[in-house]
Parts: sequence; C-alpha cells; structure tokens
Amino acid sequence: MQLRGNWNYPTAVHFGAGRIAELPEAVRTAGMRRPLLVTDSVLAKLSMVMQALNALAADGIQAALFADIRPNPVESNITAGIAAYRAGGHDGVIAFGGGSALDAGKLIAFMHGQTRPVWDFEDIGDWWTRANASAIAPIVAVPTTAGTGSEVGRAAVVTNEATHMKKIIFHPGMMPKVTICDPELTLGMPPIITVGTGMDALAHCLEAYCAPFYHPLADGIAIEGIRLVKENLARAVKGGGGDIEARAHMMAAALMGATAFQKGLGAIHALSHPVGALHDTHHGLTNGVFMPYVLAFNRTAIEEQIARLAAYLGLKASFAAFLEWVLQLRAETAVPHTLRDLKVGNENGERIAQMAPEDPTAGGNPVPLDAAAARAIFDAARAGRL
Ligand SMILES: NC(=O)c1ccc[n+]([C@@H]2O[C@H](COP(=O)([O-])OP(=O)(O)OC[C@H]3O[C@@H](n4cnc5c(N)ncnc54)[C@H](O)[C@@H]3O)[C@@H](O)[C@H]2O)c1
Ligand SMILES: [Fe+2]
Repeated sequence: MQLRGNWNYPTAVHFGAGRIAELPEAVRTAGMRRPLLVTDSVLAKLSMVMQALNALAADGIQAALFADIRPNPVESNITAGIAAYRAGGHDGVIAFGGGSALDAGKLIAFMHGQTRPVWDFEDIGDWWTRANASAIAPIVAVPTTAGTGSEVGRAAVVTNEATHMKKIIFHPGMMPKVTICDPELTLGMPPIITVGTGMDALAHCLEAYCAPFYHPLADGIAIEGIRLVKENLARAVKGGGGDIEARAHMMAAALMGATAFQKGLGAIHALSHPVGALHDTHHGLTNGVFMPYVLAFNRTAIEEQIARLAAYLGLKASFAAFLEWVLQLRAETAVPHTLRDLKVGNENGERIAQMAPEDPTAGGNPVPLDAAAARAIFDAARAGRL
C-alpha cells in the first residue's frame, strides 16, 4: 500500500514521502506572499531548511528565516519572532520543525496582531475569545519530528520564564491552513528524539482514550494511533535513517494523537509539563517515564477500557497485558524507567505536586488528580515503584 494521501480532517494534510516539494504551492494556498519561516537554531543548520527556502525562492516566494527558538520555547523567543515578523512585513508563517518550532511559529502568527499578553490566552474556559481572531496570520506547518502533533493542533506550549511554568495557549485560529507531513524529514532525528517524540504520540493517544468524556471519534482515532506506535516505534528507532515506512506510520500516529486529544489528556501530561518547565527535560521522553506509573494510578477507573484496547492490539485482553507491553516497549527503546534515570531530582517534588493539578490537562485524568495524588505518582516514578 502506498503511504500517501490528501486529508482534510482535522485540516488539509499533504501526507507522504517527498511531499515537501509541495511547500510553495501550500504557501500560496494559505494566501501568503511573504512568509516568515520559523524554525529552531539546530534545524536551521540542516540542509532541509535551506532547501525549503531555495524551493520557495525558485517559485518567486520571498521567505525570510527566523531561527532564534530554543527547545521548550520561552516567551522571549516569541517576542523576538514577532519583532522579526513585523520588521519584515510578513503575511504568514511557515512553522518548520519539532513541536518547539511549530508551537513558536504558531504563536508568532497568533500574537503578532494582539494587544494582550500571551498568558491571557491560556487554555482555560473561553479565554481564547479575548483574542482578535481577524489579526491571526495564516500558518503552514511542516513537522520534522513525529510526536507532538502540533502540526494539526489549535494549541501551543510556551514556558513563562518568570514563573517557570509551561502554559498551553489555545486559539482555533492557530490551526495550520495546510500541513505537509513528509516522513523523509524525520529520518535524521537523533534516536533519543525519535523515542521521545514517539512516546509523546503514544501518550496523546492513550490519555485521550482514557479521558472520561464521550467522544467516540477521538477514541477510534486513538486506538489506531496506539496500534501504529506498537507496530512501528521500535522499528523506526532500530531502522535509524533507513525505515521510511515505519517513519511514515509514526508521523501518522503523531497527528492522530493530537487529533484525538481534543477529547482531553491526563496526569501524564499534567506531571510532564511542570517537570519540563523546571528541569528542561524532553517533553515526550518525560511522558514515557511517567506512563506506567500513571496507568497504575488510574487502574481502577480504566481497567475495562484498557482490556478492550489490549484485545485490539492483539494482546491478552487485560490491563496487566497492556501495562506489560508499555514496560517492554520502554525497555526496548531505552526510555528511562525512573525520574532519577531522567536526571530529575527530588528538589522540586513538592512544587511539581502543587503545579500538576493546576495544569489544564489534569482535568482529563480518569481519577481526580490532587496534589497528594500527584506527589504519590511523582514518588513512585522516582523510586520505580509500580
Ligand atoms: N502543541 C501541542 O499540542 C504540543 C503537544 C505536545 C508537546 N508540545 C511541545 O512540543 C515541544 C517538544 O517538541 P518535540 O518533541 O517535537 O521536540 P523539539 O521540537 O523540542 O526538538 C527536539 C530537538 O530535536 C531537534 N530536531 C527536530 N527535528 C529534527 C530532525 N528531523 N533531525 C534532527 N534533529 C531534529 C531539534 O532541533 C531539537 O534540538 C515541547 O515544548 C512540548 O511542550 C506541544
Ligand atoms: Fe504531549
């Protein structure tokens, strides 16, 4: 089967190897003539960014580059990007990279025309309605990792340097107009990023599936996303730059995760956000560490559901079999088993326990997450106690 298609759910997705060649056309479709290409400083040095800029120039599109984005982007990255956007008289953003660059690009497109601070648009209630929607610039997204699904999402994550809190900013206008998913762009990911981002995709599907709300569409997408991770993540890691088929399936799983998590997320993300903000750990890898401990914590509420999922995955239809598979996948792909192995100490334990229930993702956890529960999961994840 050819791993290629044109999809319009949740947005227009041009999926398939080599389809980065369609970037100039996508930029025109999105109505841009002078885009700002936003990426991070590591990717800016790789040939794929220069090739994209050259392809745009050859098509008569004058794009400029902004690459002052760090992993786990901070507000000052966005402020600097907005200054570049205004100075260059741009009319849209090409968000190019992993979740960090995608989120930063989306936020620059969103915030360049707003008068309120970004923190006024946190994903709480209907705060997004405070924004001037007509001032949001169009976005074309090009993911180079397979994990966050930010390329098909209406949210972006940014760290507040003053409070050391990672905040989710939400506006429907941040959904990219066109997304190009070209798995060839992910072939050069360092193995740890392949694993970490794959764990993020898995965490999105799993938490969306377990969130206690009625959303059968999201559930269907989530379980197939988990199957794709099961069949392909270890393969993608072992195949390095060679297994384009496994990379394609992981790219699909990533965008399926973000599509599904419109339903909700849960304690994996609620804990991972403060840990990432305070310790600057990789988001997806941090999720991978927390996953079995959160599953164990939620067990009573999700046992039946997980047994159904396990059957779909070809495992014995039980919670225990699914948990065992998660542990096996983590071991096979060298995900750290404990927070200690992730180099996260105990010094912020109490603060993280206070912050986790405040994270907007906490509300989707099937068992209510208060500070005591967050502390118990944190301690279990430090000790490796299941
Ligand atoms: N918007 C959302 O819905 C959403 C969801 C989950 C996570 N996030 C956020 O996304 C960020 C994490 O994104 P990520 O996991 O994609 O990692 P990342 O974007 O931080 O990238 C990690 C590293 O990998 C490098 N890299 C990326 N693609 C590469 C490639 N193809 N080849 C070589 N190197 C490459 C980057 O330069 C960077 O150094 C976090 O800030 C997280 O909070 C957002
Ligand atoms: Fe995530």
